[in-house]
Amino acid sequence: MLHPFHSFFLVITLLVSSHAYSWWMWTPGDHVDDSTQSMIGQGYHPDQPIPFSHKIHAGDRQIPCQFCHSSARRSTAAGIPASSSCMGCHKFVNTDAEPIKYLKEKYDKNEPIEWTKVHDLPDYVRFSHKVHMQAKGDDGKLLLADSPDEVCMACHGPVKEMGTAEQWAPLQMGWCIGCHNQVKTPAKDGKPAVTYAPVSCNTCHY
Ligand code: HEC
Ligand code: HEC
Ligand code: HEC
Ligand code: HEC
Ligand code: HEC
Repeated sequence: MLHPFHSFFLVITLLVSSHAYSWWMWTPGDHVDDSTQSMIGQGYHPDQPIPFSHKIHAGDRQIPCQFCHSSARRSTAAGIPASSSCMGCHKFVNTDAEPIKYLKEKYDKNEPIEWTKVHDLPDYVRFSHKVHMQAKGDDGKLLLADSPDEVCMACHGPVKEMGTAEQWAPLQMGWCIGCHNQVKTPAKDGKPAVTYAPVSCNTCHY
């Protein structure tokens, strides 16, 4: 039988090492580990199965964002590249590195890499990459920035300096509307050349 003194320490150890710890030590404002609570928000930066570096690929090697996120120009989602597009280079590049061996193993087994989603708007919000990527001013130039990569970074922040991606923008309604109120769009549907991106509720809500 355990001496009462030992079981006292056993209880303390259990409290300290289990989830009860965060409840036990909780003070107002603390983050509570509650699986029903969304973990997604500004600064969200989940662990990923491969330490992929945006800095190496998009920064140092200047691979355009849309080489990998190729649906951004033509659909709602930007898309995450399949391992086959990684293997186009990594059949030859850094084949001895551990993450590349893992990549090749998954590719050979025809299994997808299970990247954790970073950004996630609520389902009742309508968002499309295409309309933002294609938005042009009346001078025919891109409206949101000078180059496509910079358009991406207007909303996603300094991705060329990031490792795996993190959520940079708040993605809140005020953030969307703030930009919609600022930006001018070209003439369309008989409306004058200088107007604003729409802010009526059904623009973004179903
Ligand atoms: C006007 C702001 C804006 C621009 C410009 C923009 N994004 Fe996004 N992006 C978002 C928002 C908002 C989400 C979250 C969408 C959701 O959860 O439905 C998102 C989600 C994503 C995702 C994850 C989901 C998906 O769509 O596959 C990727 C990858 C992505 N963006 C990459 C890019 C790239 C690359 C570019 C440039 C080619 C770009 N984004 C341009 C706002 C933007
Ligand atoms: C256009 C070519 C190209 C593509 C496509 C590409 N990479 Fe790379 N990758 C490189 C180069 C070049 C390096 C840096 C090599 C160096 O300098 O050591 C690199 C480095 C890496 C590293 C670091 C390896 C190490 O030494 O630890 C990882 C991990 C990686 N890539 C994963 C990926 C993944 C995952 C994809 C697909 C989403 C991908 N790469 C797509 C060219 C590419
Ligand atoms: C070589 C391929 C490659 C290039 C180039 C690349 N990305 Fe990515 N991107 C990935 C991969 C793989 C992921 C999934 C892992 C992660 O979240 O970082 C990703 C994730 C993202 C996400 C988060 C998606 C989500 O789950 O919400 C965003 C945003 C993003 N990239 C933006 C960009 C932007 C902006 C650029 C250009 C500056 C860019 N990417 C260039 C491969 C690439
Ligand atoms: C950096 C500026 C910027 C941000 C941030 C932004 N938008 Fe936009 N958005 C625009 C511009 C500019 C247009 C108009 C494009 C055009 O009509 O050519 C637009 C158009 C749209 C449209 C299409 C409107 C239509 O019917 O023609 C939707 C939907 C939309 N945005 C949703 C969103 C949502 C949701 C968010 C936030 C998650 C968001 N936008 C954030 C600049 C932005
Ligand atoms: C440019 C895009 C955009 C427009 C226009 C827009 N919303 Fe939103 N709205 C969003 C986004 C993104 C979210 C989700 C993020 C958040 O909760 O802020 C949201 C969330 C909401 C929510 C849920 C808020 C919460 O705290 O759960 C309500 C209610 C709402 N919007 C009502 C409206 C009404 C009413 C209008 C018109 C006056 C409107 N929205 C116009 C983008 C927009």
